[in-house]
Amino acid sequence: MDLEKIRTWVKSRLSEERYLHSLGTEETARELAYRFSLDPEKAALAGLIHDNAKNISYEEMLLIIKENNFDIEESIKNNQKILHAYLGACLAQKELNIEDNDILNAIKFHTTGRVNMGMFEKIIFLADKVEANTRDIGFRCEVLNILDETNNIDKAVMYCVEQTIRSLLDRKLKINRITIDVWNNYLSGYQ
Ligand SMILES: [Fe+2]
Ligand SMILES: [Fe+2]
Repeated sequence: MDLEKIRTWVKSRLSEERYLHSLGTEETARELAYRFSLDPEKAALAGLIHDNAKNISYEEMLLIIKENNFDIEESIKNNQKILHAYLGACLAQKELNIEDNDILNAIKFHTTGRVNMGMFEKIIFLADKVEANTRDIGFRCEVLNILDETNNIDKAVMYCVEQTIRSLLDRKLKINRITIDVWNNYLSGYQ
């Protein structure tokens, strides 16, 4: 698949800031894939397109889902923040003919994560949170340090989930059930 053409497709759908974030996620996903011996170009592609639906308005998202009969459950449709990830996976399949389930699932679960994520999903989840173009550089360094010191991707993912929960609590925002499940599941694994 021609990455340059896909970059043009992504760029046409996103704000400048979000496009920069996508390029950063592409690059960090490629680096993490090298680090953990996965396919770097497949990870780069998933990183590049993970937010393709991010700048679609909520009303438009619902319309696109209805018109295309995309199979997305009601609880997700009701959650505007998570919906872009699920719709992004549907659109990657429909418009870019991507059928690789690693890529589709990585896009779908990049916001919330999920219990028992695959290695490829973890890489895209992390790359989205720590890419160099638009994310906090101090946070990026903390997460990369965890990887350098432990070489354990679960510790890095867990740290991201922990910081997400902390930030949601601080801002008195709702914590999605999936995020709590991911947190609890990781804790069970470590105890
Ligand atoms: Fe996103
Ligand atoms: Fe993102």
